[in-house]
Amino acid sequence: MLKIKNVSKIYQGKVAYRALSDINLQIEAGEFVGVMGPSGSGKTTLLNLVATIDQPTTGQILIEGKDPYQLNRNQLAKFRRRSLGFVFQDFNLLPTLTIKENIVLPLTLDGTRVKEMVQKADEIAEKLGISSILNKRTYEVSGGQAQRAAIARAMIHQPKLLLADEPTGNLDSKASHDVMEMLKKLNQQEKATLLLVTHDPQAASYADRIIFIRDGQFYSEIHKGENQKAFFQKIIDTLSFLGGHDHDFSSIRD
Ligand SMILES: Nc1ncnc2c1ncn2[C@@H]1O[C@H](COP(=O)(O)OP(=O)(O)OP(=O)(O)O)[C@@H](O)[C@H]1O
Ligand SMILES: [Mg+2]
Repeated sequence: MLKIKNVSKIYQGKVAYRALSDINLQIEAGEFVGVMGPSGSGKTTLLNLVATIDQPTTGQILIEGKDPYQLNRNQLAKFRRRSLGFVFQDFNLLPTLTIKENIVLPLTLDGTRVKEMVQKADEIAEKLGISSILNKRTYEVSGGQAQRAAIARAMIHQPKLLLADEPTGNLDSKASHDVMEMLKKLNQQEKATLLLVTHDPQAASYADRIIFIRDGQFYSEIHKGENQKAFFQKIIDTLSFLGGHDHDFSSIRD
C-alpha cells in the first residue's frame, strides 16, 4: 500500500536542516500504524511527505506502487483528493461553512452531485455520532465534535489511506477515546489504511504497530499482539528509553 524507501528530507533554509535520514517503512493495506517520537524528531515531516504536501530530498515514496511525483499537477491534485484523507491537529474546518458543508467539501471539489453528497454526509455523520450538529457552524460545536467532523471530512470520499497528525492533541480524554474508537472502526470496517502521528500513548495503543523515530532516524518498532493494555505498557517503556523533552511524556506521569 505504502512504501517509503531510503527517504531523507533536508529543509533548505539559511542553514540547511536534515529533518529525516534514510527512513524505510512499508505499510500493508488495512494496517493501522502509529508514529511516535520526541518533539522535532520529524513526525510531521514524514507525514507531509506521504501526504504529497512536501517532496523528499532523496529516496522514494510509493503509494499503491505509484510515485506521486511522477504525476503531473492535475493528476497529483486528483490523486490527493481521491486516494488520501487528512486529519490535522487543529481540525482545519472552515468557519464560514456549516459542519455538513465542511464534511462534503472534498466531494464538492470533485463535482459530485448534491443529492449524493447529502446522502453520504448523513451516512457518515450517523456513524460518527454527529448527526445533530450538521447544520451548526464550526464555532458552535465542541472540540470533540469538530474533530469528528474533520474525520468525517477526511473519510467521506473513502480514501484508501488516512493520515492523521495528532488528531487527539486538542481533546480531553473522553473525546480522545471517542475519536480513537472511531478511527479503529474506520480501519476495521472500511478497511482504511491508517497512519497516525501522536504523542499520546493511549491513542497510540490503538495501532497495530508503532514506529519510533528520533532525530529524524528510525529508532525502533513494536507490535501490538493480542492485548492493548500490554501494548500500552510497551509503548511507555519504549518512550522512556527514547528520551526527549519533558512535555512529550507528561501524560505518562499523570
Ligand atoms: N519548513 C521547515 N523548514 C525548516 N525546518 C523545518 C521545517 N519544518 C520542520 N522543520 C524542522 O525539522 C524538524 C522536524 O520537524 P517536525 O515538524 O517534523 O517534527 P515533529 O516530530 O512533528 O515535532 P512535534 O512533535 O513537535 O510536532 C524540526 O527540527 C523542525 O524545526
Ligand atoms: Mg509535528
